[in-house]
Amino acid sequence: MHPVRRARPEDLDQIAAMRKLLWPDSPFAEHRAEAEETLATGRNGTLPAATFVAEDEDCRLVGFIEVGLRSHADKCNPVRPVGFVEGWFVAEEFREKGIGGELMRAAEEWCRKQRCLEMASDARIDNTVSQDVHEALGFEIVDRCVHFRKSL
Ligand SMILES: CC(C)(COP(=O)(O)OP(=O)(O)OC[C@H]1O[C@@H](n2cnc3c(N)ncnc32)[C@H](O)[C@@H]1OP(=O)(O)O)[C@@H](O)C(=O)NCCC(=O)NCCS
Repeated sequence: MHPVRRARPEDLDQIAAMRKLLWPDSPFAEHRAEAEETLATGRNGTLPAATFVAEDEDCRLVGFIEVGLRSHADKCNPVRPVGFVEGWFVAEEFREKGIGGELMRAAEEWCRKQRCLEMASDARIDNTVSQDVHEALGFEIVDRCVHFRKSL
């Protein structure tokens, strides 16, 4: 019903628009450039990464997931790289219809092909919907963190 496929260069404007809704603090152009880099290189930094998108019946994009390898993640076995969910979004009017789950399954399949044995992800402490959806899709909560910084 909502096909999920690998992202293509012609999707970049729509991906950047969805990224902007997910991470409003960065400008559209920065989102577009980051998404373009991942598509062009198949990497996020130095490690493999991939973007999957979901379309509606008019081929408009209604969601995306960005997944990449990380050398380690909290409570995951460090002997193998872990597949990490870097970004995951479904347009508001399309939520709770199974699209987020389809995107996650595409990401999981990609991670299996990278020979990962585990996947990891994170969510803001106040994003209880994301936490519930992660748990519904088989993730377990392994930690809750507060991050700090200080200028030197
Ligand atoms: C997280 C998000 C991508 C999920 O997408 P979605 O299309 O609504 O997810 P699905 O409909 O596929 O639901 C997947 C599972 O989560 C459950 N779920 C969905 N929305 C839920 C909610 N609001 N509360 C509790 N469970 C929920 C579904 O029942 C389903 O469980 P099931 O497989 O046992 O039936 C979407 O809510 C979103 O874009 N949120 C805003 C951005 C965001 O927070 N992204 C994650 C950042 S960490």
